[in-house]
Amino acid sequence: MANVFVMDHPLVHHKLAILRNKDTSVKEFRELVGEIAGLMCYEATRNLPTVDVDVETPISTAHCKMLAGKKLAIVPILRAGLGMVDNMVALIPSAKIGHIGLYRDPETHKPVEYYCKLPDDIGNREVFVVDPMLATGGSAIAAIDFLKQHGCKNIIMMNIIGCPEGIEAVNKAHPDVDVYLAAVDEKLNEHAYIVPGLGDAGDRIFGTK
Ligand code: PRP
Ligand code: URA
Repeated sequence: MANVFVMDHPLVHHKLAILRNKDTSVKEFRELVGEIAGLMCYEATRNLPTVDVDVETPISTAHCKMLAGKKLAIVPILRAGLGMVDNMVALIPSAKIGHIGLYRDPETHKPVEYYCKLPDDIGNREVFVVDPMLATGGSAIAAIDFLKQHGCKNIIMMNIIGCPEGIEAVNKAHPDVDVYLAAVDEKLNEHAYIVPGLGDAGDRIFGTK
């Protein structure tokens, strides 16, 4: 079983509280998704390997560490995952970006794929799959399946809100994938929405409802 990391930080708690509020505007919701993604990225990149380097400052030599040249990629699950990308790229600007388009069939709640474009060398990269919501886990599992078919071996999943059902499903299907979450909620309702959750993340980011 892989590791599940749940953020526990006052800034994340505060931003999540505003994010969940049904009266939060589209503009603020979009900004908060990005800000929380940035804070989560800080945690999810904690174990990236570094190399020792000596840097000449104007005064003397400083013994420093830099990222060990590991190739990274960010793969948002469309649509809602797009809201997490910009603030992550701000922190890891050399990351390449792939896109996987999935929507949940409203009747079956199963993911339907409609788009995929990945960097050619995705199989050699450590991949951060991002999506604000981990509900049944179907979309995350489908995206990870797809990335593994393209040769990816190092995959980290990042979701803002998850629930026990989704976490268990991802863990069962992909026990090698670590999952980072800002919060784990109580359960799914009969429409496979997270309770209490925040509603439909895509609609709230893009203002489509
Ligand atoms: C939402 C969300 C996830 C998925 C999670 O997307 O952004 O991708 O549902 O649900 P699951 O864990 O049960 O698969 P949605 O299908 O609503 O598409 P959208 O981003 O285009 O709105
Ligand atoms: N997708 C969402 O956007 N929200 C949920 O609660 C579940 C799936």
